[in-house]
Amino acid sequence: MKKRVYVKTFGCQMNENDTEKVLFLLKDEYIPTDNPEEADLIIINTCSVREKPQHKVYSEVGRYKSLKKKKPQLLIGVMGCVAQQEGENLLVRLPYIDFALGTQSFYRIKEVLEQLPKNPNPIVLTELNPNFKPPLVLPEESLIKDPERVTAFVTIMQGCDNFCSYCIVPYVRGRETSRPPEEIIEEIKRLVDLGVREITLLGQNVNSYGLKETGYPDFSELLNLISQIEGLWRIRFTTSHPKDLSDRLIKTMAENPKICHHLHLPLQAGSNRVLKKMNRKYTKEEYLEKVAKLKALIPDIALTTDIIVGFPGEREEDFEETLEMLKIVRYHEIFSFKYSDRPFTAAKNFTDKVPEEEKERRLEAVQKLQKTITEEIYQEYVGKEVDVLVEGFSSKSKDKLMGRTTTNVIVNFSAPRLNLKGRLVKVKIEEAGKHSLKGIYLQTLK
Ligand code: SAH
Ligand code: SF4
Ligand code: F3S
Repeated sequence: MKKRVYVKTFGCQMNENDTEKVLFLLKDEYIPTDNPEEADLIIINTCSVREKPQHKVYSEVGRYKSLKKKKPQLLIGVMGCVAQQEGENLLVRLPYIDFALGTQSFYRIKEVLEQLPKNPNPIVLTELNPNFKPPLVLPEESLIKDPERVTAFVTIMQGCDNFCSYCIVPYVRGRETSRPPEEIIEEIKRLVDLGVREITLLGQNVNSYGLKETGYPDFSELLNLISQIEGLWRIRFTTSHPKDLSDRLIKTMAENPKICHHLHLPLQAGSNRVLKKMNRKYTKEEYLEKVAKLKALIPDIALTTDIIVGFPGEREEDFEETLEMLKIVRYHEIFSFKYSDRPFTAAKNFTDKVPEEEKERRLEAVQKLQKTITEEIYQEYVGKEVDVLVEGFSSKSKDKLMGRTTTNVIVNFSAPRLNLKGRLVKVKIEEAGKHSLKGIYLQTLK
């Protein structure tokens, strides 16, 4: 009989994708479970991008300590960015864990599990190789969480070479590396065979895909190659670094009908002084120029962004420039964070830190402004007809369906029949909520 594995995932979409790869790698011996109580193996996939998620890791792992007392053969492991960051140090606070695997080492999970019984000590692997290429791990139908899923993530590159001064990612994910295009395409074809219609390509900076390799397509070419896969209807990608967003990519987005009209374009801050200290390598004028080009070629494009408030040395007038940018760009949605000191980063040693209460005040101000903008933008959808790829039932009621527009807005709608999962349908929007739209079904397109 197969054993059971429970994985708890924190952090970004790339971590979610890594969790899935671990499940695929363990498929011969373990089946996934949602209940840690019945697990033989518990893995916590961790994030260290800010201090708060890192703290959550310790409380989460601590929670399983008592399970191990009841069931001594239970194995507990930590993977992801905190494992990478802390390595052996993890064992000081969490001496009862069996293994810790870094962001490149988790691919060795099977070998580690085989070695554990022979090893008196926990196994910790955190090597970061600058020439690392992640092995191909193909999706396994029997193991994916939702066997009839419509959307999936595909990691196309790992690591980051940008070294924004606040960010730990280059230290915990290593140097940027692009996966070979043939492997990406093979993986997507497999997903499409399993019923997936929409994929989101993942990378810390997808716009620089392939540039470090010889003979690889660039990101625009990769998008065009992927779009030739039959049965694949929609392509999304994240994250785009504004400095590397080329005219060519904007043109490709405008011309290729499979590429969704949504772009996550992290601004981080609106003041050039702060952007410079962040090492972002663009000015707000350059950013706005790219936004103008995007809007000119793709009039219905939805933009979203990340904002950091209270970066060291951010003055009130700098912060006001961030608010100003939100008013000019009019993002569909923003993800906003209080600056948090991270180990290894340059900004950690900057002296002019912003007090916590001030960061809190700025965070509230930025979120309040965005709430109004999002509400106004959502209101503009009312009365319009939109194409929605149906992902399943609405989370609130089982007599409604849920899907997304090409602009990545969630739509809940009623329909005369409910077996429309995986279909592309036309919906008339009747009402705008704070986080989603409501509508009625008009017709099935595909
Ligand atoms: N590669 C992506 C995402 C990186 S992490 C990018 O370049 O945008 C996701 C977001 O977390 C970042 O965009 C940033 O807004 C936020 N973030 C990263 N480090 C942070 C820190 N030290 N404090 C607060 N927010 C941070
Ligand atoms: Fe971090 Fe900057 Fe790299 Fe994004 S581009 S992962 S913010 S260093
Ligand atoms: Fe977190 Fe690592 Fe992703 S730090 S945001 S899980 S790359």
